[in-house]
Amino acid sequence: MLRSENGAITGQDFKNFFCLLVAAGNDTTRYSIAMALHLLTQQQGLLKTLQGGDVWETCADEFIRLASPTLHFRRTATRDVEMHGQTIKEGDKVLMWFVSGSRDEAMFENPHTAQLDRSPNRHVAFGQGGPHVCLGMWLAKLELKCVLQELAGRIHTLEAVEPPTWTRSNFICGVKSLTFLPKPIPDRGGSGLHVNFSFADAQGANVIAPDGALSDIAKGCMAGLIHHHEGLAGLLAATVNSYDRLGPASMAGYWANWADDHRLVTTRSCVTSPRSARLEHRMADCATNPYLAVASVLQASLLGVSGGYALDPAEDLDGLDNIRATRHVPSALDKALDALDADKPLRMAAGEAICDALIFLKQDEWKRLKDKSVDQVRDYYLPFV
Ligand code: HEM
Repeated sequence: MLRSENGAITGQDFKNFFCLLVAAGNDTTRYSIAMALHLLTQQQGLLKTLQGGDVWETCADEFIRLASPTLHFRRTATRDVEMHGQTIKEGDKVLMWFVSGSRDEAMFENPHTAQLDRSPNRHVAFGQGGPHVCLGMWLAKLELKCVLQELAGRIHTLEAVEPPTWTRSNFICGVKSLTFLPKPIPDRGGSGLHVNFSFADAQGANVIAPDGALSDIAKGCMAGLIHHHEGLAGLLAATVNSYDRLGPASMAGYWANWADDHRLVTTRSCVTSPRSARLEHRMADCATNPYLAVASVLQASLLGVSGGYALDPAEDLDGLDNIRATRHVPSALDKALDALDADKPLRMAAGEAICDALIFLKQDEWKRLKDKSVDQVRDYYLPFV
């Protein structure tokens, strides 16, 4: 396709083809994934079918059939053709409405319904029937399948919070915005918001572990994070259900400890390469305001460096059944908020006004929700999503 007279691809052809690849593979897959999520919120039972595991070979085609994000292409007839009683003359310009063909009731039973085991599934979302078939269709199907596999393993319901909005286009079209609430599977992880950070000196060199060993600055940061551990819990896991994930052996920042490359401690250092050396704080979750999370972690670190806090030895046990650390986050959100209230240096550093407001509002939230069921707690938070 991209050969010039002597068989080589010209520079201009290559650039054009590159642009085509970027454009062709971008909106289309995005809208197909969004359509799949939309259908999962609409057709109850689809998520369970996915989780059953028998439809992974067929489901991507079915979601893409219903998405058909490339609505149409235009071609020019190279000869006279008779179709369904219509004559198309050589030179006529013809629109092929893929979106319509993919829902053709003569071809598909219940064309507007997702049947994830539909096979054969001769939709035309990728074109087909001529020399110009979509070159990325296998990649597109794989991408959608991978996203759905990851999602299906992490949630047990998916609820739409408001109706989707759609792009206004007669060419590439799909779900533009979709607000939904996935309910995480309680015993699975995956909602953590880990704050990774490192610093560079004036010459641009990483100061966390310049020679492969932790610097004094890195040690001071970790000492600060450990020192302010209880108060940070009030800042970093400040909804009732995000606090629930802070349990021992949860990989979620329960213990006031640190270690190098250890996923069951709260602050993990990584010193393997001078370029990527960094610290990772693992307590926040995705309900936290990310700006507040980053600011709180950096301020606690700064308190450790400027206050010259000493760093305890690294956690050297497995972090599951055996833990060297003795301090951990308070037992519930209200107690973490009390700890934040009592930790004046952290409150002042993170911002007294925002901490006071947070403590006031979240104590009230805690009182309303402390005896409620998981579903009642979720319903309380829904309007804020
Ligand atoms: C769900 C996702 C996708 C849909 C619905 C889609 C749809 C289409 C359609 C309808 C055509 C026109 C075929 C024809 O003329 O008969 C096409 C062509 C093309 N697509 Fe895709 N596409 C998708 C993903 C991708 C991806 C991921 C890539 C590459 C990374 C890609 C690359 C291309 C290229 C290079 C062409 C031009 C082929 C040619 O003219 O010979 N597409 N696609």
